[in-house]
Amino acid sequence: MSVGGLPSRIVAFAAAFDRSTFHSGSLPLDHYLHKQVAQEIRRRVTACFVALAGDRRIAGYYTLATASVPLADLPGDIARKLPRYAAVPAIRMGRLAVDHAFKGQGLGGALLINALRRAARSEIAAFALVVDAKDAAAAAFYQHYEFIELAGSPLKLFLPLATVRHPG
Ligand SMILES: CC(C)(COP(=O)(O)OP(=O)(O)OC[C@H]1O[C@@H](n2cnc3c(N)ncnc32)[C@H](O)[C@@H]1OP(=O)(O)O)[C@@H](O)C(=O)NCCC(=O)NCCS
Repeated sequence: MSVGGLPSRIVAFAAAFDRSTFHSGSLPLDHYLHKQVAQEIRRRVTACFVALAGDRRIAGYYTLATASVPLADLPGDIARKLPRYAAVPAIRMGRLAVDHAFKGQGLGGALLINALRRAARSEIAAFALVVDAKDAAAAAFYQHYEFIELAGSPLKLFLPLATVRHPG
């Protein structure tokens, strides 16, 4: 099923968009979009970007906020090249989800690349994009894009932003 065609735009979340029909197969990720995200955006604790199918239907979304990563959690070969601060600045993609109707068509990958480019072109420095995978299957998705596990946390992964090309 594809309502309104394949998503072609990734834009900042707006309350006018239709999120009530969004179902990714993860109740917490659905609930967050239906009930919580608008308030968190107003309070500036998260930013949210959505893929739109047609004018208003949300086909997928991700959230971004600042974070920091303890230097000790990075692999030694990467940490050795960084200044000896206790932690390095990062951007966290706390959530990423695609609606059932649009899965397996490249939208999750397109959202992830959009998030990486958005983070990489920020004027505020961040060493890496970090993600919290909700389970092993989600971690495998990120590993497909060469994300690396943080020490001791197989579900927390990162990708250095210096490796990301960011046209536009
Ligand atoms: C994980 C999720 C975002 C993937 O979205 P999607 O639109 O189905 O994925 P895509 O079609 O864009 O897949 C892009 C690539 O990733 C690969 N891929 C997808 N899911 C994968 C997985 N679980 N493990 C490994 N690779 C995976 C695809 O094979 C594809 O590879 P290719 O580009 O080489 O052909 C989606 O399944 C989802 O919303 N799941 C529920 C919520 C979730 O797990 N979120 C993740 C973070 S908590």
